[in-house]
Amino acid sequence: MIFEQIDNGGDRNFGYVIGDPASKLAAAVDPCFIPEFYVSRIRALGFRLHYVVCTHSHQDHIGGNDYMHEHTDAVVVMYKDADYFYDLEVEDGQTLLLGELPLFILHTPGHSDDSMCIRAENNLITGDTLFVGKVGGTDLDRGARLQYDSLRRVMALEDDVAIYPGHDYGKTPTSTIGYERNHNPFILQPTFEDFVHLKQNWTEYKRKHNIA
Ligand SMILES: [Fe+2]
Repeated sequence: MIFEQIDNGGDRNFGYVIGDPASKLAAAVDPCFIPEFYVSRIRALGFRLHYVVCTHSHQDHIGGNDYMHEHTDAVVVMYKDADYFYDLEVEDGQTLLLGELPLFILHTPGHSDDSMCIRAENNLITGDTLFVGKVGGTDLDRGARLQYDSLRRVMALEDDVAIYPGHDYGKTPTSTIGYERNHNPFILQPTFEDFVHLKQNWTEYKRKHNIA
C-alpha cells in the first residue's frame, strides 16, 4: 500500500494519499486547499485517482471537491448524512474497495454528524474526531456525547493501529491508538462528565500543562 500524509496548509490541515499497488488506483482523502497537488502527486506515483474521500463536510476538508469534480473523474465519497454533494455515500461498517485494498469505514459522529474514520491496513485516518493528544471541537452536550461514544469505539481498536489526524495539532504528526489511550487527556477522562469538564476548561488545562 502507498500511504502518504500531505500537509495541505490551511489550518495545519492534513490530507492523505492512499494507493493500491495491485490496481494502481489511488484515493485522495480531504484534498483541500491544494487539490491539484494531489492530482499531480498521484500521477507521479504512477497511480490513477479513483476516489476522493472526505472525513466530514467541513469546508477545510471538502474545499477541494469542486476542483476534483471538475477536473478529474474521481468518485467523491462521503458519509451518508453529509450535507455537501457526493457521488457515493458510505455507512458505518462498510468496506470501500480501492482496487483490491479494503478501506474500512467507521462512523464517528460528534465533531460533526457525518464524521467518519477510514482504516487502510493498520492506518486509521481520524479526521477531526481524534488528534494527537487532543480531540475535535464539539458543543458541550449532544456533540460531546456523540464524540465520547465515538472515541470509545475508536479506542477499541488495537494498540498498534497508527492514527493520522485531520490537523497537525499535536506534538507529532501521527500517533497510535496505544499512545493516545495512555496519553491523550480527553481519552484518559474516566466519565462523560469529566470529558465535558475538560472541554470546558481546555484553555486553562493547556496553560497548566504547557500544551501548544
Ligand atoms: Fe472539522
